Amino acid sequence: MSGAPGPHAHEHAHEHVHGAEAAHAHVHEHVHSPEALHAEPSAHAPLEPEIAAHWIDLEHVHFAYPDGFEALRGVSLCLARGEKVALVGPNGAGKSTLMLTLNGIHLPSHGTVRIGGSPVDRRTVKRIRAEVGLVFQDPDDQLFSPTVFEDVAFGPLHMGVPEAEIHDRVERALAAVGMAGFERRLPHRMSLGQRKRVALATVLSMDPSILVFDEPSAGLDPRGRRELISLLGRLPQTLFVSTHDMRLVAEVFPRVVVMDDGLVVRDGRTTEVLADVPFLESHGLEAP
Ligand SMILES: Nc1ncnc2c1ncn2[C@@H]1O[C@H](COP(=O)(O)OP(=O)(O)OP(=O)(O)O)[C@@H](O)[C@H]1O
Ligand SMILES: [Mg+2]
Repeated sequence: MSGAPGPHAHEHAHEHVHGAEAAHAHVHEHVHSPEALHAEPSAHAPLEPEIAAHWIDLEHVHFAYPDGFEALRGVSLCLARGEKVALVGPNGAGKSTLMLTLNGIHLPSHGTVRIGGSPVDRRTVKRIRAEVGLVFQDPDDQLFSPTVFEDVAFGPLHMGVPEAEIHDRVERALAAVGMAGFERRLPHRMSLGQRKRVALATVLSMDPSILVFDEPSAGLDPRGRRELISLLGRLPQTLFVSTHDMRLVAEVFPRVVVMDDGLVVRDGRTTEVLADVPFLESHGLEAP
């Protein structure tokens, strides 16, 4: 781990989400590592059309946790650039595990994850992390600074964004998640919903080309949820969002991927998938 995270970052670490200590090391490396954020910013560079068609590309991805449990058992999935896709499935389906393969926190035991055409491996992981903004299911895995301002400023600061622009970036990111004016507050003293929002802001402030949010609406109050729905609808980036909130899926995402037991069991138009009630029920889901 480069740089020591604040003590609270580990105090609240939930082993069940990412398991191994190594995952937490990567979590902090992700935000702490200046090289990671400086690395060639190919995110906004023009792409070959065939690569653009597979902006996120998973091919037969398997992943096993250190205890041997295979949480991903051959996942294949493509997202086009700018596409908004929801990921649903019952508890333990492998949604969070899948998301953690998208920026190399988990490297597949078999199969390949490609981002913008580049395979995610030890060599490319730093560059990939500058392109893929991942918001963890548990905000305590994301927030480690003494103040909200420092947490939200961390990414852009280490990407080399000029000081003068930092305040503007932080202000905009906090406003986008309904947390304007919270700059001086202590993240680890705030409510769960507030921490969830600030965790989103730490990634929005970096303006990555791909946004991966793991259950962003969990713990939000109705107004916060409405604001999130409107924010997700407005974001121009490629968006891949896991959720148990089927109304959120119906409102924001034209396409939905359903996982169960480490596999993709359905991938299609949201209107069609959500209309298939027997299918939803057979995977522990319900229609909105
Ligand atoms: N560190 C770990 N070690 C061993 N098994 C793990 C670890 N983390 C997760 N798992 C297992 O991997 C499977 C997939 O877990 P994952 O967290 O990806 O599910 P999920 O779809 O995100 O569930 P939820 O809806 O509860 O967030 C589960 O069976 C879980 O018990
Ligand atoms: Mg999860």
